[in-house]
Amino acid sequence: MTGPRDRHTPLGRSRERDEPLRRDVRLLGDLLGRVLVEQGGEGLLEVEERLRLLNRELRADPGGPEAAAREREVERIVGGLDREGLVGVIRAFSIYFQLVNAAEQHHRVRRRRQRDAERAAEGRAQPESLAAALAALRARGVPAERVQAALDRMRIELVATAHPTEIARHNVLEKHLMVDACLDELESPRSPREHREAVERLLEAITVLWQTDALRTSRPEAIDEVRRVVFFLEHMLVDAAGAVHEELGRVLDEHYPGVAAHEDILTFGSWAGGDQDGNPNCTPDLIPRALGRHRTAALRSLRERVRALAAELSLSERMVGVSDALRASLAADEARMPRAAPVVAARNPGEPYRRKLSFVWERLDPGGEAPYASPDEMIADLDVIRASLEEHRGERIARRGLARLHRRVRSFGFHLARLDVRQHSSILREAAAAVAGGGAPEGRAAEVVETFRRLREAIDEHGPEAAGTVIVSFTHEAGDLLAPLALARHAGLVRDDGDGALRSDVDLVPLFETIDDLRRAPEMMRTLLGTPAYRRNVEARGDRQTVMVGYSDSNKDGGYLASNWELFLAQQRIADACRLDGVHLTLFHGRGGSAGRGGASTYGAVKGGPLGTLDGRIRITEQGENLSSKYGLPPIAERNLDSVVAAVLERTLEEDEARGFSERKPVWDEAAAELAAASMAAYRGLVYEDPGFIPYFTQASPIEELGLLNIGSRPARRAGDGALRVEDLRAIPWVFAWTQNRHLLPSWYGVGTALRAFTGRYRGAAGVLREMYAGWPWWRVVVDTCHMAVGKADMRVAGLYAGLVGDDALRERMLGTVTDEYRRTTEGLLAVVGRERLLDDVPWLQSSIRLRNPYVDPLHAIQIRLLRELRAERDPARRAELEHPLLLTVSGIAAGLRNTG
Ligand code: PGA
Repeated sequence: MTGPRDRHTPLGRSRERDEPLRRDVRLLGDLLGRVLVEQGGEGLLEVEERLRLLNRELRADPGGPEAAAREREVERIVGGLDREGLVGVIRAFSIYFQLVNAAEQHHRVRRRRQRDAERAAEGRAQPESLAAALAALRARGVPAERVQAALDRMRIELVATAHPTEIARHNVLEKHLMVDACLDELESPRSPREHREAVERLLEAITVLWQTDALRTSRPEAIDEVRRVVFFLEHMLVDAAGAVHEELGRVLDEHYPGVAAHEDILTFGSWAGGDQDGNPNCTPDLIPRALGRHRTAALRSLRERVRALAAELSLSERMVGVSDALRASLAADEARMPRAAPVVAARNPGEPYRRKLSFVWERLDPGGEAPYASPDEMIADLDVIRASLEEHRGERIARRGLARLHRRVRSFGFHLARLDVRQHSSILREAAAAVAGGGAPEGRAAEVVETFRRLREAIDEHGPEAAGTVIVSFTHEAGDLLAPLALARHAGLVRDDGDGALRSDVDLVPLFETIDDLRRAPEMMRTLLGTPAYRRNVEARGDRQTVMVGYSDSNKDGGYLASNWELFLAQQRIADACRLDGVHLTLFHGRGGSAGRGGASTYGAVKGGPLGTLDGRIRITEQGENLSSKYGLPPIAERNLDSVVAAVLERTLEEDEARGFSERKPVWDEAAAELAAASMAAYRGLVYEDPGFIPYFTQASPIEELGLLNIGSRPARRAGDGALRVEDLRAIPWVFAWTQNRHLLPSWYGVGTALRAFTGRYRGAAGVLREMYAGWPWWRVVVDTCHMAVGKADMRVAGLYAGLVGDDALRERMLGTVTDEYRRTTEGLLAVVGRERLLDDVPWLQSSIRLRNPYVDPLHAIQIRLLRELRAERDPARRAELEHPLLLTVSGIAAGLRNTG
């Protein structure tokens, strides 16, 4: 792909700043071009270039006199390709996107470093960061005691789930890391030999990518999902959390000396191996297997660090004294580990710290002579080392590596992350009824009983930090929580303690996810907390209750605006219900990456939450492709975590200050409620009530074909193999399908009708909407996120997919409905944000979409051809031949849009 200069030409001011990105993209494009010719011949490169140029011209002048001829020409070229040619072209564009994505990630890191340096020189802090937050708090005169009190209350937990939205194979993601490393090398001045070597390595990586199947050949098993989450925990998240903790300490020292943060401010959870909801492949035995992997990874990474630290701490007894406690603990280790003792003694005579750390290292071996029974034992050892250093002028030595290690064990123990269990309310009830019946539960009920038993064992083995949260999806009524309570009792997770007190190892968490359930959630919480048996469990858990709210299913149910508004209201009212009952609430946000699944900037979302619902505590899911895009490179991971902690700290203090006052005007609530209702009516009118909708959806999108993708261990539908019903479809394939065909309908449909009706009804409405946008963080996030989705949608491409619908009248009617609403939505949003063209306020995204489109368009054209052929084909062998390239287009489009769904 030798390319002209237009690739990734950013706009105006950013030109100079983004020159290194353009240079990298050009280089990668050239190298890919070479590999294409080597692997597929000149012909392949020619076809690829022809398609790209045609689409670029089409994009530049979509309504021009040449447009129809160009479209026909694209169709002719795509139609004329044989299978090999087709696959070649798909892969050329897909790999190009992978390389561009890697280059963009790389550029983000580079820009971050530059900006940090610029800001440091000017004494400014990066916006949405801890440094900025604490500087602002101090400037506002917030007293140290208040900051300390807020920090003391803070508990942030990011929960990595196994949600199937990551289409790239792990192996392929690793190649991207390699590309990143090569770009890094090319950046700093090198000798010509080193330069050549880096270019060779890039060529090799691209060749390997070319010869690697981008798709998994078999469906991942649940244990593969565990492996992936553990990879991120071990290699990215835990380290990044440590770095953020240090940064917090640093900025506190600067602005609030004497104020300190506790070690558990930021921890992690995982659903991989525990999320059984709608996934029969996630069986109870995964609980011990997953936690076993967490532990293995935790011990492995601790051992690496202990070894490195031992190498550093070469302090000699002849130079400096050591404490009696350290001597005593060495003697105890020698007695405890007679096999290791002589080896350790011989290795580092006269170096007591090294010797001590060697014993620590030995004790981190689960198969060794005296493995640690708990992280506390290790902490006690580290404390002895620290005290000895401090007593002997070694404070400086204790402050870095040792302190880091200490914090790592304190925060992440030997478990890395807490494993949650999730199951559907109806299945839990079925199992509880079977247990109550006294007979032996069978089938699904037996699995649930087994799950609770495994949970009991897991807590015994790994400690209460490692597990104990049970999430009840589709909670419809208070009784849904009594079922897992009974099952927990049955398993001994909840038991009476002779003296009338209750002991409990489980948090039971309702998950509210339809519009109706969100509306009834506050009342359900009151009923639940008013139920003595339930309330006693909450009390036994320290009067703490976690409540989860689901963004995706509520969006699928009521559309974008209604979902966001009902979530907002429910959170506020649930918080009130808990407060009235003297219960500390933690809200758990189940949100995905795209707008239709609650995707938004986490910083913005935290800051935009209803006042009085945070109070320092929050859990948030991080799923699928977000893990690699947000945490795939250490500096990016740190940046994301830093901004979450900053948002929670700022918002908690804002809540303190606002106590008793609302930050919004009553009329804003009325406006939001009216908009939500109108939007939901329009959305449901189309999705659930229009008889033409399902035929349109199934023909104009790849929804049925997505089931062929091997990206997750769970099935795409919750129930039913018969005619498709939106109700049965999981939210992920729902959004995924609409993303591939560029409608992106779940993220905006209904918004236009609502805005138009509202502004048509009241004369001052437009002004109120703008005032809300300026003054209400929640509305701002809702509008901006929708605006971005509308910017990514593309009605021209949507129209091409509509061409797959057989019935002309149906196609014209449905496409007309969608495009009219799209127009209304665009106009309405632009009026609220006060801009002329879509994404004028997010120029980087605007240009990224503009530059990527000519490369995504051929993939759309090919996907449409393959969908048409596959649907007409009955012969299984021929079908299989078509499926693979089709799925490659799915993966390529996802890479091009940087979004699966
Ligand atoms: P769920 O998640 O189907 O697992 O509840 C939905 C989503 O994250 O989109």
